[in-house]
Amino acid sequence: MHSLVPRIWRVCAGSSFLSATNGLPALLGHLETLRKAYHGPGAGAEAAAAYTVPRASLVSTGSQDALSKAFEMVCGPGTPLLVEAPTYSGSLAFLRPLGAALVPVATDDGGLVPASLAAVLGSFERDRPGTPKPRCLYTIPNGSNPTGGSLSEARRREIYAIGARCAWHLRQRSRQ
Ligand SMILES: Cc1ncc(COP(=O)(O)O)c(C=O)c1O
Repeated sequence: MHSLVPRIWRVCAGSSFLSATNGLPALLGHLETLRKAYHGPGAGAEAAAAYTVPRASLVSTGSQDALSKAFEMVCGPGTPLLVEAPTYSGSLAFLRPLGAALVPVATDDGGLVPASLAAVLGSFERDRPGTPKPRCLYTIPNGSNPTGGSLSEARRREIYAIGARCAWHLRQRSRQ
């Protein structure tokens, strides 16, 4: 089985192949260009060319399909998941039956509030004793539903820094 994988990828790389598991290669290439242009660090062809984060696109049958698969990968009954308050009701519709322990983080006109994220994480052990710290944040950074807010670059950097600090603490703890 293992040795078949490179052969399958060679076949899937052909532009006429219809069922590569993560999407038609030509379509993925086009989507990647759009992703870099609209969601990369800076818009325009030059920024897109300079943006070299490895491809992470996956074609799905709608974002509900993609979201439910992503949530099933990271959540199970009792898994703590940081979510914006309020968040997209369509996601709550499958997060609740999945049994995830939703941990609300405040939002305002500019999207998720970094200070709220830091406060929730800072007091987590005291507020929810015995619950493992969340490892995952579900945020809608552009055009949130229902608020319509989008994160500024400054907030994105703050949130990233908080996440990086927490990852460091989680790594230290798991080594103990
Ligand atoms: C934030 C958000 N995620 C997901 C979806 C679902 O999108 P789709 O209809 O592509 O499944 C919506 C639809 O409004 C949405 O607002």
